Amino acid sequence: MSNTAVGQSLDKYLANLHILYAKTHNYHWNVEGKQFFTVHAKLEEIYEHIADEIDAIAERILIIGQRPSSSLAAYLKLATLKEADAASVGGEAVVKNLLSDIQALIADLKKDIKAAQDAGDEVTADLLIDSLGYYEKTAWMFGAYLKS
Ligand SMILES: [Fe+2]
Repeated sequence: MSNTAVGQSLDKYLANLHILYAKTHNYHWNVEGKQFFTVHAKLEEIYEHIADEIDAIAERILIIGQRPSSSLAAYLKLATLKEADAASVGGEAVVKNLLSDIQALIADLKKDIKAAQDAGDEVTADLLIDSLGYYEKTAWMFGAYLKS
């Protein structure tokens, strides 16, 4: 819905966050096996963080004078991340799949931060830098988990 480059990149990020929000819930519910407790609990922490981020990104879109996409149908159209099936899944598969999503988000965020800085929108850049820090830390933790 947003019509400036910065608004559009925030809106796409907002759509991807909704996919990730649904997907982390999906895995929180459907993870099975010996890593259940660890992965179940970690995913709850992550989707709670995503919920806060969703609100901050949507409000930033409004602050810069645009309107955020606000329906699941719009998010599905805009998002580049893919949802997961409602099916039993092991802890390692969960972490591998989410790590790949997070790496895609990190690549987008780096481009979006640069675009916001080029547009002179330091506040949006700052908001996205916080997100980048969070997902880089999460990617590091997921990578460490997969080594065991
Ligand atoms: Fe729960």
